Amino acid sequence: MTEQRFSGKVALVTGGASGIGRASAQLFAKEGASVVVSDVAVEGGEETVRLIEEDGGEASFVEADVSKAAQVEALVGRAVEAYGRLDYAFNNAGIEGRMATNTADYPDEDWDRVIAINLKGVAVYETRDSPDAQPRSRLDRQQLLC
Ligand SMILES: NC(=O)c1ccc[n+]([C@@H]2O[C@H](COP(=O)([O-])OP(=O)(O)OC[C@H]3O[C@@H](n4cnc5c(N)ncnc54)[C@H](O)[C@@H]3O)[C@@H](O)[C@H]2O)c1
Repeated sequence: MTEQRFSGKVALVTGGASGIGRASAQLFAKEGASVVVSDVAVEGGEETVRLIEEDGGEASFVEADVSKAAQVEALVGRAVEAYGRLDYAFNNAGIEGRMATNTADYPDEDWDRVIAINLKGVAVYETRDSPDAQPRSRLDRQQLLC
């Protein structure tokens, strides 16, 4: 049997309910990691977990909105509580925002939403997961995949 790259490790994937996030979660699991799948989309997230388990992997779902610091903190806490550690975080959750709109016409609330999810959502992880900020997670910065 070939050696699994992430055997014994724990990976968190945000935006894991679909697309790149789901595929990454499945790959982490295939390589032996226990995967915490997170998303605002509960049905899709649970489906990702089902697909991983069907393939013999280990995963669990935690609902969280990455633009909300308190939810990110709770998510990291739940991951560590469930598996005792957290080795990797793929900060994949993101939105496209409104397309085909002139920059000047772009509504303020859309800017705010895109920045909150695509930028602040990742920055929050950087602070909540950094070794000095939250000793319980102790993620190495090099293991934070943005
Ligand atoms: N697919 C591409 O060509 C492409 C290109 C450049 C960048 N990206 C980025 O890659 C990432 C994944 O892309 P994808 O194509 O798989 O997109 P996708 O829409 O299939 O997946 C994004 C996931 O993020 C989740 N999400 C949205 N807002 C969230 C929030 N506030 N908190 C938690 N989860 C949230 C969605 O529910 C969805 O499941 C996104 O950040 C996207 O912006 C994708």
